[in-house]
Amino acid sequence: MKKPFLFYFYIFTIFLIGTSYADSVKTVLPSLNNIDFPVGYEKWKVVSLSHRTDNDSLRVILGNPIAIQAARSGQTNPWPDGAILAKTSWNQHVDKNWPGAVVPGEFLQVEFMIKNSKKYVSTKGWGFARWRGKELKPWGEDKNFAQGCIACHTPVADRDYVFTTPAVFIGGGKK
Ligand code: HEC
Repeated sequence: MKKPFLFYFYIFTIFLIGTSYADSVKTVLPSLNNIDFPVGYEKWKVVSLSHRTDNDSLRVILGNPIAIQAARSGQTNPWPDGAILAKTSWNQHVDKNWPGAVVPGEFLQVEFMIKNSKKYVSTKGWGFARWRGKELKPWGEDKNFAQGCIACHTPVADRDYVFTTPAVFIGGGKK
């Protein structure tokens, strides 16, 4: 049986939608220490936020579901295996509609700490990785870059190497 014109038209349209979707999904290279980019981190919940006054940047610290569960119940010393913390940073600027407010501007980077006490023994149980800029370019000179990360996080060894204290969220009403 000869296929009607519309049949080919539909197939072609589906093909076009498929290829444009594939183009819009960015391929992100793994970090030099072989950590895959945690796809979907931008949907995680907030652990806390910070404002660095020495380099004018704003940060939001997000957690995957395991990290959020730990953060909201105060089980963060140590953080459980499987917890991932993501720190996203933006340049800050003054809001054009409200000069009293400092708001995020350009996206600078996102970096992660992935808790796995067996896998990441050489960096105290945390896998470290950072991706820079809109291109999400893996950061670091060689595969040992994470030694620099853990070195700077060592002053907070007694808090499982994590600086951030989870912010307190007050809820209300019946669940
Ligand atoms: C010069 C010191 C320094 C270095 C180097 C450093 N960090 Fe941090 N990091 C901090 C400080 C201070 C904070 C908390 C304050 C803030 O919000 O920036 C932090 C926070 C974080 C957080 C949020 C969890 C936490 O500990 O509060 C992540 C994730 C993180 N860093 C990842 C990395 C990664 C990945 C690297 C290496 C590529 C790295 N850091 C290197 C100082 C450092």
